[in-house]
Amino acid sequence: MYNITLIPGDGIGPEVVSAAKKIVEATGLNVNWDIVNAGADVYKKTGVLVPDEVYESIEKNKIALKGPITTPIGSGFRSINVMLRKKYNLFSNIRPVKTIPGTDSPFKNIDLIIFRENTEGLYSGIEKKHSENVAEATKIVTSAASLNIINEAFAYARKNNKKKVTVVHKANIMKLTDGLFLDCAREVSKNYPEILLDEVIVDNMCMQLVMNPSQFEVIVTTNLYGDILSDLCAGLVGGLGLVPGANIGENMAIFEAVHGSAPDIAGKNVANPTAIILSAAMMLNYLGEKEKSNLIIDAVIEVIGEGKFLTKDLGGIAHTADITNAIIGKIQTL
Ligand code: NAI
Ligand code: MG
Repeated sequence: MYNITLIPGDGIGPEVVSAAKKIVEATGLNVNWDIVNAGADVYKKTGVLVPDEVYESIEKNKIALKGPITTPIGSGFRSINVMLRKKYNLFSNIRPVKTIPGTDSPFKNIDLIIFRENTEGLYSGIEKKHSENVAEATKIVTSAASLNIINEAFAYARKNNKKKVTVVHKANIMKLTDGLFLDCAREVSKNYPEILLDEVIVDNMCMQLVMNPSQFEVIVTTNLYGDILSDLCAGLVGGLGLVPGANIGENMAIFEAVHGSAPDIAGKNVANPTAIILSAAMMLNYLGEKEKSNLIIDAVIEVIGEGKFLTKDLGGIAHTADITNAIIGKIQTL
């Protein structure tokens, strides 16, 4: 029996998280969901963004499936997502981006994975307002956190027979911070002589990804670039509705889609639940439930490939519940 924290979140969160919950249950996994909530909706009701029970549940279970949480723009609110990753030192943000046949995208053979540093960089949360017209943000890069994520990327590459790790940086301008990250990548790569270290500056990387994304296998980068490149890469395979993610630390992990709370489509039963469903599959893989994880992935690929139950973002008219039921039906036949 697994005890898993389930955080519905804001916007489309409750719709897609409940879909993922049903899919996990359809695999027959013996799970006890500990449902707690955080975010803007909770704040409106209680005046607290993250109730204590959320921390307690995550700390007890050490594993969570989380919906997106709205972060109001402006001062006074820190992103709960960024805060949780830092608080629990979930240093690896892992986002596999893969073409799913049947989706309408100009690229057909994308199979890359982004390893984003998840605890520091420009998201360290250190900002100052000096005066009405002058503000400052501090970018922190440490070799400890850099080595953590870079080691993860290379270890993944070796385990999965990948030939190349691309480190994305801006060390030509940010000489000390990105320079340190790049030095760490060069250091780690010495332990992996069979893997090529490909060094690409972030602006060129954006162009390369849009022109020829299939040239990339494993990408490792700092927090802000990783955030931006993740959405860019999602766009290459059919959109944010498809790309899953994991935040993994030493002995704790939070799984969530790359996308946000999508307020523009919330509450309409039209959100694509695929990204969070595939995040749940990553979670099962992390738990060692490889067969059940693959079952979910295969069912998703088949349902999308058949093209009968596509949500609006994929050019269809299916509702969140329709594609969810189709995936459950597929799981039962596989
Ligand atoms: P977003 O990712 O929520 O939406 C961007 C666009 O993609 C929108 O047009 C949306 O409709 C579409 N989209 C996203 N997910 C989709 C899905 N599953 N199916 C179909 N279409 C989908 O980004 P946005 O609008 O910039 O942010 C909204 C809120 O989400 C903000 O408050 C932001 O801070 C928060 N956010 C939270 C994240 C998290 O909890 N990890 C991550 C990213 C943003
Ligand atoms: Mg993002």
